[in-house]
Amino acid sequence: MTWLLTGGAGYIGAHVLRSLQSSGRDVVVLDDLSTGLPRKVPAGVALVLADVCDRDAVAAVLRDHAVTGVIHLAAKKAVGESVERPHYYFRQNVGGALALTEAMVAEGVSRLVYSSSAAVYGSPDVDLVLESTPTLPVSPYGETKLVGEWIGRDLAVAAGLSVVALRYFNVAGAGGDDLGDVGAFNLIPMVLRAYTRGERPQIFGDDYPTPDGTCVRDYIHVADLADAHVAAAARTEAGEPGFSAYNIGRGVGSSVREVLASVSTALGLELDVEVTARRPGDPPRLVGSVDLARAELGWTAARGLDAMTASAWAAWQANPPETGTAHLG
Ligand code: UFG
Repeated sequence: MTWLLTGGAGYIGAHVLRSLQSSGRDVVVLDDLSTGLPRKVPAGVALVLADVCDRDAVAAVLRDHAVTGVIHLAAKKAVGESVERPHYYFRQNVGGALALTEAMVAEGVSRLVYSSSAAVYGSPDVDLVLESTPTLPVSPYGETKLVGEWIGRDLAVAAGLSVVALRYFNVAGAGGDDLGDVGAFNLIPMVLRAYTRGERPQIFGDDYPTPDGTCVRDYIHVADLADAHVAAAARTEAGEPGFSAYNIGRGVGSSVREVLASVSTALGLELDVEVTARRPGDPPRLVGSVDLARAELGWTAARGLDAMTASAWAAWQANPPETGTAHLG
């Protein structure tokens, strides 16, 4: 089996690449390196430099490498930016999903694992989000991810694709010191960046209706998330045509204050934090039920919050994003 991994030079993609290799599958990476880093693609793995919106380039890769399935990660993922630039997000994320699936249908490739997001749910007022919870995204980013799911769902019917969508919750940590998230768009990297700059990390609001007043999220170690892709790939290899979507989290809620306490432990000191105003659009609580992934993919997360913060800090120190090696990815 040869899998095309789009976005394989990025933070999550580099982890998925390693999990696929460990499972014995051959991999070819397609990445435009807009945020990815070539150093994250190991020697011996083909790296095709192309935009996933370029249907002909994707089709050529599918043909040239005798690809049997696709894991599609290449997309824009900054929620705030998506609000400012909806055209750009629809063009890249929906355009990418369209071009990719057109190429797949043309080349007879029927297996697809699609990187979706808990952002498809918006702000559900439930303790645990089920896959059947209504999808009501509240950002262009979430909308584009949901449209991508619909494309997969409809092509399962129209073209016999076997599609698994993985709805990621809050991804964190590193599976190795060279694999850290250096983008600083999410809580843990933002805290590490503030700390290394000698600034006070910020809590965006502590007056939410949650136990300690700060927002609760479902944090998932990126190495566990990567393994979920292998389980999903295996399902499409074994399965019938069709579409299914799974929450990929731990089913455990952690507040911003709990994350900060875990980062303090990793740093070996007590962080001095600052409470600032709420960030617009943040739901108080977003935690996924993971029963379906366990039952149908046979996958469950193995690592906890302290493993995420400790590995994030180790990777940050090994490749400090602000010492001349800074990259997004
Ligand atoms: N936060 C702070 N201080 C910071 C940064 C974040 O208090 O410096 C808080 C946020 O307000 C939020 C929580 O930490 O309550 C987590 O924020 P992130 O920005 O890390 O993550 P989000 O939950 O906003 O979004 C993440 C991904 C999205 C995805 C979403 C789905 O970034 O791509 O999870 O759950 F859509």
